[in-house]
Amino acid sequence: MNFLSSVFFGVKPEGFVKNIQGAIDNLNTQNGVFTGDNLFTFGRNLGFFEDEKFVNAWRGVVETPIEEAIVWRLHVVAWAAKSVISRRVPGDFVECACYKGGTARLVADYTDFKDQDRTYYLYDLFEHDPSMAHHAMPEHSKQLYQRVVDRFADMSNVRVTQGSVPQVLHEVAPERVAFMHIDLNNAPAEIGALEVLFDRLSPGGILILDDYGWLGYRAQKLAEDPWLAARGYHVLELPTGQGLVFK
Ligand SMILES: C[S@@+](CC[C@H](N)C(=O)[O-])C[C@H]1O[C@@H](n2cnc3c(N)ncnc32)[C@H](O)[C@@H]1O
Repeated sequence: MNFLSSVFFGVKPEGFVKNIQGAIDNLNTQNGVFTGDNLFTFGRNLGFFEDEKFVNAWRGVVETPIEEAIVWRLHVVAWAAKSVISRRVPGDFVECACYKGGTARLVADYTDFKDQDRTYYLYDLFEHDPSMAHHAMPEHSKQLYQRVVDRFADMSNVRVTQGSVPQVLHEVAPERVAFMHIDLNNAPAEIGALEVLFDRLSPGGILILDDYGWLGYRAQKLAEDPWLAARGYHVLELPTGQGLVFK
């Protein structure tokens, strides 16, 4: 199995992709090759592509080349969600923030979330204005909140809330959390989310920090490392750029 995406961030695309192709051409065996999302591996199992349910859920949400390229990150999130369910870790699921709801939809499909006795809490601003600390996303708009609500119309245990994290968490939030995905692209909001929710993460629960390993979001790592260390937790930096914390 090989997966070849030409989505890389921070490169001059033409020359970079040509040289990656040159490197692939010089492999002794062209198996287990993964390119994309600033990863280049070879000789790997890439076992998530053998998981038919995962592949179907991923294919079901991919709308852009970037969403296709981040498949390894999505596997990490799906694995974490499935793990807390199979270990019966008590609590709800949280995503701060969900944007179009693509990752959450993948997780919900992969884990048959509608049959779970849990609620999936999704938060986002859904709109953007230039005064905000984080960057805009292409599909931010006045309509996005409703689009995400509609995307989960078949799942009564998914709750979509529009508002600013962390303030909105004081109005709507679970008492107990099993799985939490934080992807806010700005350090104060991420620390704010941790301040409210980390104590509610059950023992055995999993936290995934989407931006943790990316140099472009280094401020988040610099804020999160001491915050978590003060509570006795340390983040595992994954090759995907995500951070993983096991409670
Ligand atoms: C990279 S996107 C999230 C992508 C999503 N996790 C996924 O996997 O599809 C980051 C989102 O964070 C949201 N955001 C940033 N700061 C926020 C805040 N303080 N409160 C709520 N949402 C926020 C933005 O509106 C944006 O949609």
